Amino acid sequence: MENLFKLDKLEKTYPNGVRALKGVSFDVNKGEFLVIIGLSGSGKSTMLRCLNRIHEPTGGDLQFKGKSVVSLKGRELRQYRSKIGMIFQHFNLVPRKSVLENVLTGTLSRTSIFKSVFNMYSDADRQKALELIEVVGLKGKEMHRADNLSGGQQQRVSIARALMQDPEVLLADEPVASLDPATSHSVMEYLRKIQQQYGITVICNLHFLSLVREYGTRVVALKGGEKMFEGSPSEIDEDWFKRIYGEQAVEVTIN
Ligand SMILES: Nc1ncnc2c1ncn2[C@@H]1O[C@H](COP(=O)(O)OP(=O)(O)O)[C@@H](O)[C@H]1O
Ligand SMILES: [Mg+2]
Repeated sequence: MENLFKLDKLEKTYPNGVRALKGVSFDVNKGEFLVIIGLSGSGKSTMLRCLNRIHEPTGGDLQFKGKSVVSLKGRELRQYRSKIGMIFQHFNLVPRKSVLENVLTGTLSRTSIFKSVFNMYSDADRQKALELIEVVGLKGKEMHRADNLSGGQQQRVSIARALMQDPEVLLADEPVASLDPATSHSVMEYLRKIQQQYGITVICNLHFLSLVREYGTRVVALKGGEKMFEGSPSEIDEDWFKRIYGEQAVEVTIN
């Protein structure tokens, strides 16, 4: 198995003094669907933001394909980030723009803001955007306004947008937390499709354990900024569940 990320005692202390990650170590292999779970405030979002260097880790090391990326700057940092796509709980689409225009904004280019203002995408970019819209099951909706789509469809637009940059990794921060159960599955299915068919590594923060069991190939659980479990979803029995989520927690199933 090819190693993609290596986290070695990764630390993140925010300027206000909150120690969100307290020396977390684990490896991510190419092609896996790794799920990060944990209570609200356990450090999941901080973890993803450190992986793509939106946030600066404040200690330890983070390697991507064997090279440390914690001190990358300028062009090297942009190149690194271009390999890592990201999707968010609230989709972050431009509501009044079309599906196609939203996907095109994922085009990675130094001049993409200029290009998007003047509608100057290349034919190749447009072709690729149309293909990706089909990949996420939205053929026929290219010209629909983003805010006319359902939440699940909007999240699929954001997946297509992230794929425009040909990422090696897709980070998903609670991608179904704003969606109802049925729609959650459709979004998770498309994430699995791009993991399995395109070999893109997916690292996904999730709240519900039933989704973890269905889609995750491996799990890391965080608690108070520390890794407290790493293994396969099937290893999380009732005991582990209570240790991760607390004695009072009850597992719910998303059908
Ligand atoms: N930008 C920030 N500045 C200061 N503290 C933060 C910031 N972002 C998150 N935190 C704190 O870091 C801890 C972990 O937060 P977060 O990574 O968002 O957890 P999760 O995604 O698991 O809910 C929390 O105590 C949170 O309040
Ligand atoms: Mg979060």
